[in-house]
Amino acid sequence: MEYRQLGNTGIKVSAITFGSWAIGGWMWGGTEREDALDAIWASYDNGVTTIDTAPIYGQGLSEEIVGEAIRDLPRDKMQLLTKFGMRWNVAKGDFAFKSKDNAGNPIDIYKYTGKESIIKECEDSLRRLGTDYIDLYQIHWPDITTPVAETMEALSQLLKQGKIRAAGVCNYSAQLMAEAETTLSLASNQVPYSMVERTIEEELVPYCIQHNKAIIAYSPLQRGLLTGKIKPDHVFAQGDHRPTTEFFKPENIRRVDNFLDKLRPLARSKNALISQLVIRWTIEQPGITIALVGARDKDQAMQNARAINVQLSNDEIRFIDGELKKLELLEDSVPA
Ligand SMILES: NC(=O)c1ccc[n+]([C@@H]2O[C@H](COP(=O)([O-])OP(=O)(O)OC[C@H]3O[C@@H](n4cnc5c(N)ncnc54)[C@H](OP(=O)(O)O)[C@@H]3O)[C@@H](O)[C@H]2O)c1
Repeated sequence: MEYRQLGNTGIKVSAITFGSWAIGGWMWGGTEREDALDAIWASYDNGVTTIDTAPIYGQGLSEEIVGEAIRDLPRDKMQLLTKFGMRWNVAKGDFAFKSKDNAGNPIDIYKYTGKESIIKECEDSLRRLGTDYIDLYQIHWPDITTPVAETMEALSQLLKQGKIRAAGVCNYSAQLMAEAETTLSLASNQVPYSMVERTIEEELVPYCIQHNKAIIAYSPLQRGLLTGKIKPDHVFAQGDHRPTTEFFKPENIRRVDNFLDKLRPLARSKNALISQLVIRWTIEQPGITIALVGARDKDQAMQNARAINVQLSNDEIRFIDGELKKLELLEDSVPA
């Protein structure tokens, strides 16, 4: 594994990090606890020391599973990343959307980052994770109802108390990061980034490089689409959010699949999987510190961690970028 500095902090993280959204089941059509535990252990055995989770993932379940998985692992060799600010059934802050929990009960999701709420959320996460500190504590989504300074104040308090080692954000623009940094120095920004979702390259990547902020690239496999296993007639489990999104429209799947076909000879020549080529490409991009990849079971976790062994030359990256330039996705799947 390769280990990289998390922005301007002294924290080292694994360049391939385990993402725990899907193992919480919520929005992914359920979860298998034993498979999820095996996935985390397989990652760790292959050098992945960093795990990202969030309270909203399975409404506590993902953090509990991570807590169980790390119980017998050396805590000081691991980095736990979690989040705050996506609350369910609180009727406070910015209403985000209606959803259903794993049991099928309706839940209302709010973006809420008031100071007292963050302090409470942190205690809840520490308990579920079975630890007394969080390595990186991140705001999950911006909350337009709370002044950024109030949110940063809560983080300053948690830093002083030693409950968190570093503070970061997710889904922030460069402008919002700059605003937040008038109160507190941020370690990182966790944002969507993949071969087919490159919005951040325009403004956020230059900002983070200039200010030495880590970029944690989430959904680098574009939620499984870039593994090459998803075909236009793919049947997803009930409750899986993917078929309702633009990326997974059959026509888009077809186009992405044609693009991936162009990469197959390169993958074969390296004895690598398409997904491994994709992950290596991601961590080779300027400014990207971490590829934050989800996995549901041991095999996926192992494959993803071992992507670190795949090397790509500059010419090979140029070849991939050339093929990407020819890929035209349906208009709607490219965010404005
Ligand atoms: N901060 C935020 O707002 C935010 C938003 C999204 C994600 N994230 C974080 O980023 C992490 C990763 O993103 P993601 O889970 O959305 O997407 P992803 O990493 O692009 O895709 C993960 C999914 O792809 C499939 N997969 C993974 N490895 C595979 C392999 N080797 N072979 C075949 N299929 C494989 C699995 O789903 P199936 O087996 O079901 O196909 C897995 O759940 C999340 O877990 C979460 O920690 C953060």
